[in-house]
Amino acid sequence: MVDVLLGLQWGDEGKGKIVDYFAGKYDVIARFQGGPNAGHTLYVNGKKVVLRTIPSGVFHDKTINLIGSGVVLDPVAFKQECEQIAALGIDLKKNLFIADRTHIIVPSHRALDKASELSKGNDKIGSTLKGIGPAYMDKTGRNGLRVGDVLAADFQARYEKLKLKHQHLLDGYNFNEDISEWETEFFDAVEFLKSMNIVNGEYFLNEKLKAGQQVLAEGAQGSMLDVDFGTYPFVTSSNTVSAGACTGLGIAPRWIRDVIGVTKAYCTRVGSGPFPTELYDETGDKLRAAGNEFGAVTARPRRCGWIDLVALRYTSMLSGVTKLVMTKSDVLDAFDELYACTAYEINGVKTENVPYQINEADIKPVWEQFNGWSEPTANCKQYDELPLEMKTFVSAVEKYLEVPVAYVSNGPGRDQILEK
Ligand code: GDP
Ligand code: IMO
Ligand code: MG
Repeated sequence: MVDVLLGLQWGDEGKGKIVDYFAGKYDVIARFQGGPNAGHTLYVNGKKVVLRTIPSGVFHDKTINLIGSGVVLDPVAFKQECEQIAALGIDLKKNLFIADRTHIIVPSHRALDKASELSKGNDKIGSTLKGIGPAYMDKTGRNGLRVGDVLAADFQARYEKLKLKHQHLLDGYNFNEDISEWETEFFDAVEFLKSMNIVNGEYFLNEKLKAGQQVLAEGAQGSMLDVDFGTYPFVTSSNTVSAGACTGLGIAPRWIRDVIGVTKAYCTRVGSGPFPTELYDETGDKLRAAGNEFGAVTARPRRCGWIDLVALRYTSMLSGVTKLVMTKSDVLDAFDELYACTAYEINGVKTENVPYQINEADIKPVWEQFNGWSEPTANCKQYDELPLEMKTFVSAVEKYLEVPVAYVSNGPGRDQILEK
């Protein structure tokens, strides 16, 4: 069977840490969408590792990892990541597989990402500029190159054809960037990619499922960044909701068992776009400092605010979440009182639904206040040891979302997680 683990907010919920925690229980960990815009942080033997394209199961001996066809892979970023992991003594030739239908990010995709953002001025998405949007555009536009193509004798010619198309687009933007250095790196990385395990991902996974193996599908980004249901156009270019696991891996819905939704005990967003519970005051700054909220990929300060239960109930509905994991609860130790948004007031009308367009100017969060707790929680080893006030907060979240909180994560470390 397949369990899907995904972020329910705007990304960076702590998915990497949680996947790493669960990975030993699964035969396969499979990434189903996104690309090197993701930054999933794990601590392995006390050492921090940030994974971008490679699934967060690579540090478990008996777990196989698959980069599914719904992912977009930048060979350059991928090679760097592989080298970093190999230096930690992991043999990726044994435990990493790449679906041949996975689309490739080429250097001119990165240039196009920049050009597009520049042309938007103040309306920019705040993209990580890793070429994600342009690569998915070529996928749906039926022009893309895929991992399987690197094995073709005429790969270079196919690449040149795509580059020419991109050159026309870049000319249209009046954007000039010398990508020749990136190209040298790219072709070097393509040779490296050829040496890795390239497989037909859908047969690979379905055969394992038929044989009774257990699969964890690892989501990237967060549900509010979903291209269909997120805060469009301030979203990423893939389906981050659970349905994306089926299309991104080539598996049927009937294989899906649990959908594990990860949420922080508060909320963050990096990049532009609406964020109804954002705090622009010193409380927001305090959350950023206490939670060390700086991007794992771009180091940008993350925007911070209280937990948004309206958005969470929406994203939990979209993915059919069966279990919640609440991360970074320890960050709230620093607060005497905390808040959760339980409704939006839009032009004087209260709603518990996410509207068509969230326009920050129009939305006033309706808050429920909770008492803080005055003791540190990062060293608690059992859920029962947590302060009563924190348990009250956790219960309120489960009640609002009508989904149980199965785990509370009380620190970045591998062992800092409490089963409820
Ligand atoms: P991901 O993209 O969802 O995997 O999340 P990121 O790795 O981008 O960001 C999560 C950050 O929070 C990382 O720096 C983690 O090490 C850290 N983290 C994860 N869980 C916890 C937790 O329970 N408490 C604290 N304090 N930090 C956590
Ligand atoms: P993980 O997997 C947080 C955001 C960017 C930008 C928007 C579009 O670590 O949770 P893109 O590069 O996709 O064109 O950017 O999406 N974004 C993320 N925010 N975590 C991520 O991944 C993100 N991946 C993209 O900041 O606002
Ligand atoms: Mg991240």
